[in-house]
Amino acid sequence: MKVLVYGSGGRDHCLADKYGDSQHVDKVYFAPGNPGIQMTPKGKRGLIEQVPIRDLKQVSTFCVEKGIDIVDVGPENPLEEGIVNILNLNGIRTVGPKREFVRLESDRSFTDELLTRIGVAKPEYRVFNDPVEAKKFVRNIGYQVVVKANGLAAGKGAIVCDDVDDALFAIEKIMVKKAFGKSGDKIVIEERKYGTEISFFAYLDGSHVMPLRMFAQDYKAAFDQDDKDSIKQFGGNLNTGGTGCYCPHRLVSPWLVNRIIKEIVNPTVNAIYNDLGWQYKGVLYFGLNLDPYNNLEVFEINVRHGDPEWEVLARKLSTDLFEIGMAVWEGSIDTIKQAWNSQYYVDVIAMEGRSKASRGWNKGYPARYGKGHRITGIDSLEPDIAIYFAGVDKHPDKGLVTDGGRVMHIVAGDATLEKAREKAYRNIQKLSFEDHNNNNANCLRFRKTIGL
Ligand code: GLY
Repeated sequence: MKVLVYGSGGRDHCLADKYGDSQHVDKVYFAPGNPGIQMTPKGKRGLIEQVPIRDLKQVSTFCVEKGIDIVDVGPENPLEEGIVNILNLNGIRTVGPKREFVRLESDRSFTDELLTRIGVAKPEYRVFNDPVEAKKFVRNIGYQVVVKANGLAAGKGAIVCDDVDDALFAIEKIMVKKAFGKSGDKIVIEERKYGTEISFFAYLDGSHVMPLRMFAQDYKAAFDQDDKDSIKQFGGNLNTGGTGCYCPHRLVSPWLVNRIIKEIVNPTVNAIYNDLGWQYKGVLYFGLNLDPYNNLEVFEINVRHGDPEWEVLARKLSTDLFEIGMAVWEGSIDTIKQAWNSQYYVDVIAMEGRSKASRGWNKGYPARYGKGHRITGIDSLEPDIAIYFAGVDKHPDKGLVTDGGRVMHIVAGDATLEKAREKAYRNIQKLSFEDHNNNNANCLRFRKTIGL
């Protein structure tokens, strides 16, 4: 069987890798992919191959020519551009929702209204189209809020505010300065909640649902809480697309999984199939909060796997991903038996840190970061470490170089969380991003508290 994974980030590399583990699959194409794949065992032996085409129609033509059996789409943007609609029109099987259904992620106010209507718990919220009205609201509300761009924002569109000044700043950034473009024409202002975040996933096949009875925790903040110098220097502990992840989340238990399915997943899926009448096929990502009083609430719904959550869940999942993908397409997800191995997994993300620019310094991700730094040390990683590449490129002389803020995921598995943590941190320290403007000093940065 031949699979094509569409995407280019760490989650998408991990999807390609997981399809490559399937007993049914003898070729995985990764489009547009990233050249890091050539450094991995499956890339070296040609099981996974990068196809650097981005245009959706060209992807469709490629799939027809190569006889691709199924396409799995990682990120939300191509889903919103209608990749699934285009592929299905050409008779190609897919895992992922059609353009019309991406609204669950790309229109927060729509989903918030849906959840409120069907009685699924979520924090109180108000929707604004006018920054003046939004600012008036936060000046008077008296409690802390989260300001969210209504549209897609690469997982960075929610700004958590400590006080009124923070909220005013967030409204200005999203609605006036358009930090996320048109996604910020409308905002949702939500009551800030405290507790533990949970990323929970389910596969839908158009008529059934298979909730994953396992979940992960993402670390969204750019810095560790005790890294006061960086927090001061960057003007706050900024939100990122994720700096690391671990699995199983310390709260995984049959009791909590059952509650999430009963209180959140089932009513939402029932509304999608029966109220909206949508034949949704693909992944649903429930961003949840469990507060100190054990109340579960929904922060957001996304239409894809989480990044970096998938990188640890995929390592723990023993079920064949090709069988899941085909069941999603065929409407037989109810026949799939999910299985999880007994390991713990920790994903620490290697990011671009402080580096020398041609003039002055780059602060590093999530602020301005440098690129083109040679990546060394990959061959010295322990053999059971999984690496998933994200922001990388190929340079004619230097080989693999950095090309993004989040560069690569170092995923370690072991019998205990502590051992997995030690292994991940022992290995990430073998890597270096050589800052060519600064005597090849290492400009790789990572958070130190993932999994703690
Ligand atoms: N883990 C955050 C996201 O995928 O949006």
